[in-house]
Amino acid sequence: MAKAVYPGSFDPITYGHLDVIRRAAAVFDELNVAVVHNPNKNPLFSLSERVELIRACTSDLPNVTVSQFEGLLVKYVEEQGAQVIVKGLRAVSDFEYEFQMALMNRKQNPHIETLFMMTSGRYSYLSSSLVKEVLRLGGCVRELVPPLVEERMRQAIMRGDAK
Ligand code: PNS
Repeated sequence: MAKAVYPGSFDPITYGHLDVIRRAAAVFDELNVAVVHNPNKNPLFSLSERVELIRACTSDLPNVTVSQFEGLLVKYVEEQGAQVIVKGLRAVSDFEYEFQMALMNRKQNPHIETLFMMTSGRYSYLSSSLVKEVLRLGGCVRELVPPLVEERMRQAIMRGDAK
């Protein structure tokens, strides 16, 4: 059984992430979306809030599971019994950092492959950070995140959350 892990901050999940999740779920028997604590970022949502939102947005995909973790990605992938790390690539600008991480992960565990999936062209400009900035500044994010995510973002921004 081929199992993959799709790791990321997902703060919050966007239609770009969901596009990659759908594509990967069609290729693998099981896809685990792993919400990662990134100490370098100041998130809007807690890890468990992000997990809940991703679960709500992927409830129609029976082979997708969602969890959270802290620590080294390759160790988590091993613990999950997965063989592949899925990453989304939006543009050439993503490549250098992703390439570096893929090689570092391979150095840590040569048995785990990183597979890059091209995001649909219409989401190539989309990032969680820009969505947060646009919403905070009163812009429209309707075509960028699902309605539930937009609603939760509005609530979190109104409360002034930064976890
Ligand atoms: O959505 P992001 O923030 O771009 O995702 C980056 C992420 C979470 C995939 C990366 O920071 C990661 O793998 N973190 C886990 C810690 C780890 O293993 N670091 C070494 C990576 S080479």
